[in-house]
Amino acid sequence: MNLPAHGRGAGKVILLGEHAVVYGRPALAASLPLGLVAEVGAGSGAARLESDHAQLDTDPRLAALVAEALAILDLPAREVVIRVRSELEPGVGLGSSAALCVAVLRALASAGSRILSREEEFRFGRRLEAIFHGHPSGIDPAAAALGGGCFRFLRGDPPTIAPLRLARALPLVVAMSTRPRSTGAAVTGLRARWEADPTRYERVFDDVASVVEEGIYAAERGDLEGLGRAFDRNQALLETLGVSVPEVEELAERARRAGALGAKLTGGGAGGAVVAVAAEPDAVARVLAASGVRTIVARVGADAAEGRAA
Ligand code: MEV
Repeated sequence: MNLPAHGRGAGKVILLGEHAVVYGRPALAASLPLGLVAEVGAGSGAARLESDHAQLDTDPRLAALVAEALAILDLPAREVVIRVRSELEPGVGLGSSAALCVAVLRALASAGSRILSREEEFRFGRRLEAIFHGHPSGIDPAAAALGGGCFRFLRGDPPTIAPLRLARALPLVVAMSTRPRSTGAAVTGLRARWEADPTRYERVFDDVASVVEEGIYAAERGDLEGLGRAFDRNQALLETLGVSVPEVEELAERARRAGALGAKLTGGGAGGAVVAVAAEPDAVARVLAASGVRTIVARVGADAAEGRAA
């Protein structure tokens, strides 16, 4: 093997349509400039993964991730150690699991002199993401593998991934709530409610789809107020789906009071991060940071996003 070898996966922010995207509705997402980096080096004994983040390091699913990635790439399962450095907080809904899957896959492929196409990175990344939650739409590995800017996503085999043509980059603030969460638990809980009453939930998913299309129309025209309205309407529908919690709703409200044009949970929900759109994102981030909220300001465009964490 060629050691050391590196790989990187990008985090993501879902602007509109999480959860409904699992049920075949469109969603709007963007890759983040922050992600995870994996380095494969020489080790002894069985292949293992170490992380600089305690929450990742103790995750029992990591052994399965390494074993599956080695099997996909047909590489020997011994004598390597994979060290992961995360620029992204895990467990807040910013796609750290999929970014981890893609980073590990890329690093191992590079160690094994395998060149993966973008399509393979996405397909294998999606297979690995299923270790973390059971019904992935594929939107997170799409952002992790494709990098770049803002895209409309529709699940499928293959999925439809359409980069948006934006009049201007979208100024966003991502704010972290203090409530820990699990995408797997949120997805599984919604699946149980949908199975009990599919007609009701399919109707809400259709409403989400309309909001997503309105939001995409606004985003493409650079209409930040219109996009903000779509964020707020999507948040109300996420509450109806039962994947929101009061902590997140309060944080979204604080972002609006600080000047955001709209705010909503992002990703799996039930805690984690809030995304807000704002004409002056730095000003909104400053107000939130003054009360101890961790934020990321990002300007996502058609190409690679710019951003910084505070
Ligand atoms: C997770 O980032 C987004 C969800 O829609 C799940 C998925 O699409 O796989 C909640």
